Amino acid sequence: MATPGRYPLAILGAGALGLHFAARLAAVGPVALVARNAVRAAALRAGVEVDSRRFVPEVFAPDALPQADWVILLVKTGDTAEAARTALALQPRGVVSLQNGLVEALLTEACGTVPAGQGITTEGAFREGSRVQPAGAGETLLPPGFETLAAALGAAGLRARVEPDIAAARLAKLLVNVAINPLAALFRVPNGALLEAPHRVLLEALVSEAWPVLREAGLTLDEAAALARVQAVATATAANRASMLQDVLAGRPTEIDAITGALLAMAAAQGRGLPTHQAVYTLIRRLAG
Ligand SMILES: NC(=O)c1ccc[n+]([C@@H]2O[C@H](COP(=O)([O-])OP(=O)(O)OC[C@H]3O[C@@H](n4cnc5c(N)ncnc54)[C@H](OP(=O)(O)O)[C@@H]3O)[C@@H](O)[C@H]2O)c1
Repeated sequence: MATPGRYPLAILGAGALGLHFAARLAAVGPVALVARNAVRAAALRAGVEVDSRRFVPEVFAPDALPQADWVILLVKTGDTAEAARTALALQPRGVVSLQNGLVEALLTEACGTVPAGQGITTEGAFREGSRVQPAGAGETLLPPGFETLAAALGAAGLRARVEPDIAAARLAKLLVNVAINPLAALFRVPNGALLEAPHRVLLEALVSEAWPVLREAGLTLDEAAALARVQAVATATAANRASMLQDVLAGRPTEIDAITGALLAMAAAQGRGLPTHQAVYTLIRRLAG
């Protein structure tokens, strides 16, 4: 059983990406992993297979927490508010989310005076039963103020840096997510199929509707570059099942509110309607909640 104390790092959310990060970080130093509840924490204490190796995390439940300097939040977006309350109970110096979608406003409000922000990551991992399998190395970009955390991730062999224009980087990731995730989930196809008929026309419609909204919000890509970015990600991940498709197939809630919902809210604030995104949002909500 782990001894409560003060950890340099904590990972909040013992799912696919949380366990991947925790296993990598634990190989080079102490890291506290926070699971959803005591039952899950007890199960994880027995060990879990991550990247074909047995990983025995120092794992805690929200009702018996240690303290931690830096917290990385890796729950699904619907669990952000509750996880932020748990993060604060760790008495951290800073809390950073690496979730998809846009959660920064919710997170900073929940964290009050504790520095909080949302970065992005292209690290990938998926769950196969109780195993966690990394899905290719990526890069993690953190908001300014999280230099110490970037160095800790780097020391664990994860590519990470502070990105001065993290808002633009988040919008570029949102662009990819609003285009690929809902379509892959609706048509139940791997990402690469979205580049072919009959899906391609919808992919392009989603990009061309989203682009002006994201551009006005601070996206630094022009329209051709925006489409090229989405196509490049679909090509590079052609065989992958998008996370929203995995959620739909597993009967789990999707992250549609933090992804397409966030885009629609931005568009509404700019006085724009996005009919294709609205349709996709309604269909996913009907399908999976
Ligand atoms: N997986 C990827 O490749 C990837 C890549 C980039 C970004 N992301 C983003 O990273 C986030 C996490 O994704 P994931 O794939 O790791 O999801 P996941 O496998 O579903 O893991 C989320 C974990 O959070 C736990 N959790 C939920 N509420 C909690 C709470 N209040 N306190 C502590 N733990 C809680 C869940 O517990 P239970 O198991 O009990 O439900 C689950 O283990 C998402 O926003 C996703 O979009 C994922």
